[in-house]
Amino acid sequence: MEQYALKLSATFVILVLIHTGSGRDLRNVTEPKIPPSCTRLTGNGVDDTNTIQRALDKCSKGKAVELSSGTFYSGPLTIPSGVGLHIPEGVTLKASTTAALYDMGDNKCGTIDDLGLGCKPFITILRATGSGIYGKGVINGRGDTRMTGSNMTWWHLAREALAVRKLQNNPRLIQINDSVDITVYQITLMNSPFYHLTTSETYGFTVWGITISAPTSALNSDGIDPVGSQNVTIAYCNVTTGDDNIGIKALTAPSRHTSVFNNFFGHGDGLAIGSETNFGVSDVTVSNLTINNAHNGIYIKSNSFRGGLVTDVLFENVCINNVQWPINLDTRYYHMTGSGVPSFRNITIRNVKVLTNGTFIFHGVSNSNPIEVTFDDVHIKKGFTFFESYTQFTGTWVEDASGSQCGHFGNE
Ligand SMILES: *[C@@H]1O[C@H](CO)[C@@H](O)[C@H](O)[C@H]1NC(C)=O
Ligand SMILES: *[C@@H]1O[C@H](CO)[C@@H](O)[C@H](O)[C@H]1NC(C)=O
Ligand SMILES: *[C@@H]1O[C@H](CO)[C@@H](O)[C@H](O)[C@H]1NC(C)=O
Ligand SMILES: *[C@@H]1O[C@H](CO)[C@@H](O)[C@H](O)[C@H]1NC(C)=O
Ligand SMILES: *[C@@H]1O[C@H](CO)[C@@H](O)[C@H](O)[C@H]1NC(C)=O
Ligand SMILES: *[C@@H]1O[C@H](CO)[C@@H](O)[C@H](O)[C@H]1NC(C)=O
Ligand SMILES: *[C@@H]1O[C@H](CO)[C@@H](O)[C@H](O)[C@H]1NC(C)=O
Ligand SMILES: *[C@@H]1O[C@H](CO)[C@@H](O)[C@H](O)[C@H]1NC(C)=O
Repeated sequence: MEQYALKLSATFVILVLIHTGSGRDLRNVTEPKIPPSCTRLTGNGVDDTNTIQRALDKCSKGKAVELSSGTFYSGPLTIPSGVGLHIPEGVTLKASTTAALYDMGDNKCGTIDDLGLGCKPFITILRATGSGIYGKGVINGRGDTRMTGSNMTWWHLAREALAVRKLQNNPRLIQINDSVDITVYQITLMNSPFYHLTTSETYGFTVWGITISAPTSALNSDGIDPVGSQNVTIAYCNVTTGDDNIGIKALTAPSRHTSVFNNFFGHGDGLAIGSETNFGVSDVTVSNLTINNAHNGIYIKSNSFRGGLVTDVLFENVCINNVQWPINLDTRYYHMTGSGVPSFRNITIRNVKVLTNGTFIFHGVSNSNPIEVTFDDVHIKKGFTFFESYTQFTGTWVEDASGSQCGHFGNE
């Protein structure tokens, strides 16, 4: 009897530890399931925009349009509330390279200007509940292909924009706004003209087992960007791209309760928080991550142009290999200034290994607004470079990292 009571209370303590720990997605997330098909389409390698859109519009909630075989070409698509798009293994959905199809009405898409807001995304999910994209097939944004009637690819346009300090009007691959309980499962997203997978003010967002692939030369091709979103889980993904592998941002609303676990990053710009931290980013847990060949590893960036509080962030079991800036916490990103106040507090870096020489950066704002970072079980390679200002360290690192390879998801 006594023992039974003890056992019960021990179980209780464990549950409380797991479920009141606020540094993560508050939902209990498990591996998603692919919904049954409402219809199955065959791709003939011609433009199928209308066929796919009509099928999506007619599909009943809780079901998915299955692109069951072949190659599909399409202009912009909208996935309605409650409906899925299922692309099984061996099937590819290719984005049209005709800029006019993505245009917002002012003939800006496919050109360069000061705003870069001239294109619709390839796939939009807007004010929806329970929609998703599923299956082991491919969505190819074709950023590497010449735009119709032009000698330039979307990526050429991005490089040209950078050279003249302006912005490219390129479509994002998948944009999810003002939605609830959205799932992206297993799919491969490649060669987006711009960001691959972005949310805005979406509550309940599960990204599980997806692959993102784009070359280093693809500017602004961020992998997964939850923006101003809450209850986010990103798990078992493999992200290799030309900009932030994951970028957690808070541009128009706070970003809270994000879990990132069991992921692998190839080249890219690392696990980034910011630079849009305006509305605050909190309660982020990143566990079991390998970062291999990226520019940055653990990367929190803001400046006084953005401002905002980044707090209660935990990185645990992260292995970083061949990364120039393995840990970079910078409140002076791009030296942009304004009237905001960026603060990075309660950042914990635990059980982290950095296998190669690199440069570590910690730049806080001032003595009264330092970065507050805790190191616990952090091992780095000898011969590193280190820049620090206005940073309050708790704990320290040890210069004894060995080994030449990370595990699949961090230090296994
Ligand atoms: C998650 O699961 C635990 C244990 O089963 C349960 O106590 C808790 O209420 C669940 N939370 C949610 C948000 O469903
Ligand atoms: C996050 O999930 C928890 C648990 O399901 C829920 O209580 C809470 O309302 C969700 N937050 C948002 C902003 O939807
Ligand atoms: C496209 O053509 C223009 C004008 O002839 C030329 O300046 C530009 O370099 C070309 N761009 C590419 C990517 O070939
Ligand atoms: C979606 O949100 C982004 C901000 O993250 C905004 O730029 C875009 O216009 C929004 N799109 C729609 C259709 O609401
Ligand atoms: C990640 O995906 C790339 C393709 O982008 C593939 O070559 C690589 O083997 C994958 N790595 C892991 C660890 O799954
Ligand atoms: C992280 O990896 C460890 C060791 O492989 C495993 O025990 C743990 O469950 C993983 N964490 C998550 C959130 O899956
Ligand atoms: C620091 O953040 C962790 C989550 O990473 C949270 O559990 C803890 O309560 C926070 N500590 C303080 C003092 O706020
Ligand atoms: C580490 O890198 C720095 C700068 O990149 C370099 O100066 C230094 O010699 C390197 N140290 C070792 C041990 O390779």
